[in-house]
Formats: sequence, structure tokens, C-alpha cells
Amino acid sequence: MPRLITISNRLPISVKVVNENFVYTTSVGGLATGLSSTDAVKENFWVGWPGSTIDSQKEQTDLKEKLNQDNMQPVFLTDHEYENFYEGFSNKTIWPLFHYFTQYTIYKKSFWEYYKKVNQLYCDEVKKIAQPGDIFWVHDYQLMLLPGMLREVFPDATIGFFLHIPFPSYEIFRTLPWRKEILLGILGADLVGFHTYDYMRHFLSAATRIMDFNHHLGRINLPNRVVEVDSFPMGIDYDKFANAVYEKATIKEIIELRQQLGKNKIILSVDRLDYSKGILERILAFERFLGKYPEYQEQVTLLVILVPSRAGVEQYAHLKEQIDEAVGRINGKYNTLRWTPIFYFYRGLPFHTLAAIYYMSDVALITPLRDGMNLIAKEYIASKTDQTGVLILSEMAGAAKELTEAIHVNPNDMHDIVRAIHKALTMPQQEQISRNAAMQQTLKRYNVKRWSEVFMERLGEARQATEKVKQK
Ligand code: F6P
Repeated sequence: MPRLITISNRLPISVKVVNENFVYTTSVGGLATGLSSTDAVKENFWVGWPGSTIDSQKEQTDLKEKLNQDNMQPVFLTDHEYENFYEGFSNKTIWPLFHYFTQYTIYKKSFWEYYKKVNQLYCDEVKKIAQPGDIFWVHDYQLMLLPGMLREVFPDATIGFFLHIPFPSYEIFRTLPWRKEILLGILGADLVGFHTYDYMRHFLSAATRIMDFNHHLGRINLPNRVVEVDSFPMGIDYDKFANAVYEKATIKEIIELRQQLGKNKIILSVDRLDYSKGILERILAFERFLGKYPEYQEQVTLLVILVPSRAGVEQYAHLKEQIDEAVGRINGKYNTLRWTPIFYFYRGLPFHTLAAIYYMSDVALITPLRDGMNLIAKEYIASKTDQTGVLILSEMAGAAKELTEAIHVNPNDMHDIVRAIHKALTMPQQEQISRNAAMQQTLKRYNVKRWSEVFMERLGEARQATEKVKQK
């Protein structure tokens, strides 16, 4: 059986050196959470960054030894590489551009040079552990050159690439000075996967118009091989969320939270702190809701959970200040002795606390301005074992394509969000149950395990198609 080498920017665990000891935590973000649940990955190798800068040679060697025992190969980055590759090209160029925030996009040659350099570093680490027959699965926007680099070193290898964020329309993508190099990098793979049909369509359009490559039904024919392009909407570990509510630790959290929040209805907002998530817009919509429907004052609480992220990037730090200000102002305006309109946490929460919060929330307000998929929407639905609760979901999230029974909103339209909150809070229970039952069926069937299985099956077929071309 071939080994699977998963390569992503981050390892599924993050490591920090505290008082000369390694301290391990689970990495945040959809990719790490989603992929940690697949059986295939547990049994195979994972290459990625351990989440902090570790300079000492001795510490690097010790950590590598420890991680190798768990089938992980760390890629160490210097401060400069972190600033220019991770904060720079990945998060000041590609992230804003691919999420249609062109006003935040910085096109800087030195960022690009580091992006190439660090992609090469990942390639070098893969080379160290690769064995004949290994299958490589490269993930996400930080490593778009890696499939091409791996193809150079291993011309006959099976290589998959999956993009976890949107692929923007051609008109946006074409503004990137390094658009050809990025396309060629991705096309080093045998199979290129996206969350939705639209992202796939945008990618094919860019490949056709920028590189003059033709495709037929998602297959690009290169001179000596083929590249298949398709959509594979990522799922979640459904049972993990559906079962959590019956676990002791979750029940304890539910009881404690209920004591704190009283009988109020709970509207949940949970995200990594990111401008693409529409968090500020949603908080302002809640303020508008309280003004428009005063009868809900003292009856409903907005629970805002922000998971710290990319704090070194200016827009993230600025957004944090804006959110702090808005929450303070709204609470100051509406607070009463027995009611705080917005409960606000700026930290990641342990799994059972999150599961309890999902279960208890009457409404999940998930309104990203752009989002590749949004697994939180799926986790919320899976956690609602009594099938009550209402999901309000942005039509700009990839998940909206599958979760068609949610209330869809345009996240730029504050009135639309206000209307949706009102509709959610007044929705008859029977309607909630029938909508959630339908969404649960979809999520149960196409869970993260199935997602990775389908991708791997298609990857094998894509590789075979190339072998056939070569034999001709
Ligand atoms: O899903 C997009 C993504 O960038 C993933 O690649 C990553 O795991 C997650 O968001 C969190 O981002 P970061 O690694 O920058 O904290």
C-alpha cells in the first residue's frame, strides 16, 4: 500500500518552546481540524511548519526527532521567512486577492522571492522522507508552487493539490504579476481540487486565458501528461460533533453556560479573527436588530468568539480594535443590570466548550464576505442533535452551495441580516427540524473521510490517465 505524504503550511499541531520545554497545542483553522480526522492521514506522513520560529539547532533536532515518531516532518522557518512568506506573500498578497480584497493586496517582489524560497524548502523536506511509490497531497494557497517543484524531482509521482480558499475570477487573478508561475506550479499536480464548481471554473478560465491551455470537461491536456480539475466540497468529522453532546465534559459545560446566560436566546458568532469573515458587519447588524426590534432587548444575547489569527498583519490588528470598540459601544448603549447584549471571547475554546456552545445556540450567524468553504456552519448543524436551531449563512461561503436549507443572506446587506435574524428567532420549531434534518443527511453522508477518499480515488484515476497518454 503506498504511503500518503500530506503537505500543508502548518502541521496539525503547533509547538512552542517555553522554558526550554516543548509545549504542544492543536492548530486552528479548517484545514488542520478537518484533515486530522481522516484515517489515511493518521497512518501516513505529514510535512509542515510547527507554528513558531525555533532557531536553536539543538531544539530543531530534538523536535524533529519527536515529531518523526508521530510521522510528522517539520519545516523550520526563520523570522525573515515567516515575515515574507507567511505574513507577506501568503497573507498580504494571495489571501486578500483570492478573497476579493484587492484594496489590501500588496504586490511586492521580495514577498514573491521568499514564497519561492519557502516552497523550495518544503520540497527539500519532502525529498528527505520520500520513498518510491509515495503519493503526495499538497494543500492550500501557501504552497501553490510545490506541486510543480515536486514534479521536477519526481516526474512520475502521483501528486494532488487542494485549494482550501476561493479561486477568484479571472479578472481578479490576472492582476497578480506572478500569475503564470502560480498556475504552472499548481498544474504540476495530477489532480487539482476546489471546494466548489465556481472556483474550479475560475481556475480553468485563468489557465485557458493566461496560459492558452485548453480543457475538456475539466481535463487539461499538457504535452506529456494530463491534469484533472474538479470540485470536492470538504466535509467534517460528523460523528465527532454529533456525539459530543452526549459526553460528560460537554454536558458539564452546557449546565455552566446555561447558568451564566440565563434563559436568553443565544445567537452565535464564531470565527478566526479575519476581515474576510464579516465579523464587524455582523455585530453592527445585531446592533441594528436591537434598535429595530426593541422587544428582543433582554431576550437575546450575541455570543462572539474570536480565535486570534495573523495578529502581525496590519488589517487583522486594526479589525480587532474596531471589533473591541463596537462591542464596548453596543454593550454600553444597551446593557442593563440583568443583561449584557454581547458576550465576547478573544481566544480559542476547548473542543467540549465549543460543542456545548453549538448545541445551546438558537441561531448561528455565519456571514463571511468571502469564504472558501466554512466548516463552522457544518459543525453547528452536526451538533444540533435535537434538530432545533437556525443557521443563517452567507451566500458568499462555499458551504452555502450544499447547505441550501439554511437562511441565506448577502453579508454586505445589513437589512438582509437583520431580517434573517428576525426570521430565525421566529421560525416555528417544526420548520427548524425539517431544515436541519435535510442538512444533517447531506453532512453525514459526505463527511471528511468520504471527502478524502473521493479525492484519493480521483487522484489515482488522474494518474492512470497520464500513464495511458505516455504509452501512446
Ligand atoms: O483554510 C485556510 C487557512 O489558511 C488554512 O490553510 C489554515 O490552516 C487556516 O486557514 C488558518 O490559517 P493560519 O494557518 O494562517 O493560521
